[in-house]
Amino acid sequence: MTNELGQTVSDALGGHRRLAVAPMMELTDRHYRYLARLLSKHTLLYTEMLTSAAVVHGDRDYLLGKRDVEEPVVLQLGGSDPQQMADAARIGEQYGYCEINMNVGCPSDRVKAGRFGACLMAEPALVRDTVDAMQRSVSIPVSVKCRLGIDREDSYEALHKFVETVSESGCQYFIVHARKAWLDGLSPKENRTIPPLRYDFVYRLKQEFPDLHISINGGIETLDATQEHLQQVDGVMIGRAAYYHPTMLIDADARIFNELPNGFDHTKTHELLCSVARDYGLYMQQWYEKGVRLSAMSRHMVALFQQVPGARLWRQHISEQASRVPDAMTLVEGALERLQIAADDDEQRKLA
Ligand SMILES: Cc1cc2nc3c(=O)[nH]c(=O)nc-3n(C[C@H](O)[C@H](O)[C@H](O)COP(=O)(O)O)c2cc1C
Repeated sequence: MTNELGQTVSDALGGHRRLAVAPMMELTDRHYRYLARLLSKHTLLYTEMLTSAAVVHGDRDYLLGKRDVEEPVVLQLGGSDPQQMADAARIGEQYGYCEINMNVGCPSDRVKAGRFGACLMAEPALVRDTVDAMQRSVSIPVSVKCRLGIDREDSYEALHKFVETVSESGCQYFIVHARKAWLDGLSPKENRTIPPLRYDFVYRLKQEFPDLHISINGGIETLDATQEHLQQVDGVMIGRAAYYHPTMLIDADARIFNELPNGFDHTKTHELLCSVARDYGLYMQQWYEKGVRLSAMSRHMVALFQQVPGARLWRQHISEQASRVPDAMTLVEGALERLQIAADDDEQRKLA
């Protein structure tokens, strides 16, 4: 049996892994994922990181609820207690996630105090045993997102050893944020910019572990760059650029998933974005009626229009009016109207 990308079902995620939007706390919630899925059918999406304790003991429907239309979505878990991670993975599978990812990259103090995230780079055997326990409790793939290293433990050899040890669990999927993390002295934000990117480490990893699926992450901002990395590795994960410039996702199905090798027809971009905005408006309205604040959802569409006349007015309207309008469609139609007025003014200016 094959899926819509022509792959066998046992490798159902194989094609989707070519491009993923990174897990990002406070950003990649279910509402963002719905919007992202309107822009790209095939790009793999991730949840925000959830701790295994929250999944096991918390409000599961609230934390894990999602709609089938968001698929494929990977649930990212933070934790290092093998039994609890296995329980959380099983619950994630029951909620319909297509893969469970273990976070071995977050450098925050809170995460470090809980003995998970990037500090686990120093404990490859514990990561291996945790992944092993998770894999035994689910039938979907388990992957690991890690850094190049931490603190002074930042040699290629240490990274090689980490991946070698973890892969003893049978884990085949690694996503490597191509910079190390400084656990003492740098904030999580600084840890996403200050340690230098070393893409060569990730390329070498792929050469030395040709049977593993290796994805690269960190500082990748365009689909051109994505295509270049795909010459060296199996997948690319994009974080900030995909969130702050969401229109890049429009081209992804065509260029990365080979629906149209020459890309999306850009004369249709504006029309498509207007229709995405309206579809997302209808979606927001459903949640608004269930009590979700409009601004909690509309914030994800602030960057939908960029570098077109009226883009600033769009941003302003969405940000300022979300708490004032009576419903979601009034917000969206009002912002689209401002865009149209700016486009008409621009046209007039050109003709004058
Ligand atoms: C606001 C924010 C929140 C993040 N939260 C997570 C997270 O929950 N789990 C994780 O593995 N990485 C997290 N990251 C790191 C990203 O997944 C990614 O590794 C990093 O931003 C580098 O990729 P980029 O340069 O394409 O943004 C976060 C990044 C940002 C900007």
